[in-house]
Amino acid sequence: MLCKICKSKGRRNKAVIYLRHHRLALCKEHFIEWFERQTEKAIKEFKMFRREEKVLVAVSGGKDSLSLWFALHRLGYETYGFHISLGIEGWNYSQKSLEVCRRFSERIGRPLLVFNLKEEFGYSIEEIAEGSGRKDVCSVCGTFKRYLMNKIAREKDFRVVATGHNLDDESALLLSNVMRWELGYLGRQYPVLPEEGGFARKVKPFCFLTEKETVSYAILNGIEFMETGCPNAKEATSKTYKQALAFLEHEMPGTKLRFYKEFLRKARPLFEKELKKELELNECEICGMPTTAPVCSVCRTLQRLREC
Ligand code: AMP
Ligand code: FES
Ligand code: ZN
Ligand code: ZN
Repeated sequence: MLCKICKSKGRRNKAVIYLRHHRLALCKEHFIEWFERQTEKAIKEFKMFRREEKVLVAVSGGKDSLSLWFALHRLGYETYGFHISLGIEGWNYSQKSLEVCRRFSERIGRPLLVFNLKEEFGYSIEEIAEGSGRKDVCSVCGTFKRYLMNKIAREKDFRVVATGHNLDDESALLLSNVMRWELGYLGRQYPVLPEEGGFARKVKPFCFLTEKETVSYAILNGIEFMETGCPNAKEATSKTYKQALAFLEHEMPGTKLRFYKEFLRKARPLFEKELKKELELNECEICGMPTTAPVCSVCRTLQRLREC
């Protein structure tokens, strides 16, 4: 197959990727150009951040977040990486992830901020989950990650935090929220969560790009990334929703993008009404982060662990 853009210019370059739902075959150069243009378009469409704002890019060491850091850097934004080292020893996961992020930061010549959970809090994420009696490490992990993204953003004066969530993540989350008719979550699901009550703005510039596209972008740019996910495998349900959508996508190309885009355009405004009025926030007595209780849930968890 030949690159469609090269062909239109009278050149015969072989395509490296075929984007079935866009009916677009592209060579390496034009795919990278297309991918970065899509990223910039999402940033502009949802007013994620302005050129003069510095962006904290949350990087796990996986293909999505490192591709995001690379794309934002290439687009000329002032980026800083932020990695949370969770202390997961299985498969040497946390150590390898940190090394991958460090090497990447050196490659593009941009700073990487690191928060080491074990060094700062005294416990790894697995110890924290176990100590708080929660079986699902991933959900405890999600709470800590969100907390730390807000905390570091606040301390280092960032107003915006970008994550590598892609279309596969967002459409699977949407499907799971629809299946359970989670009206509040449906009202909140959006590519931008505004800066509010002392929390930084959260943005997802890859929300319209598929996993296939982000992994291709990473490979074509020679980005080294962690190929295995976290050993505390994600709940099976989100994988099931991804598989269901992959089947629909195979039968009807474009389903995922349509499902998510049409939700944003037509359905989400209806659910926005379901958003509960924000509860009054005050500062956590221990760490000073915004919370509805006197002490925030992260500080409460850590307090309980230290008392054991
Ligand atoms: P996940 O929930 O693992 O799919 O990750 C979603 C997004 O959260 C990633 O694309 C990153 O932007 C961010 N993220 C995940 N893990 C970390 C981490 N350990 N440190 C910093 N950011 C992370
Ligand atoms: Fe947090 Fe797996 S438990 S990444
Ligand atoms: Zn081309
Ligand atoms: Zn606190």
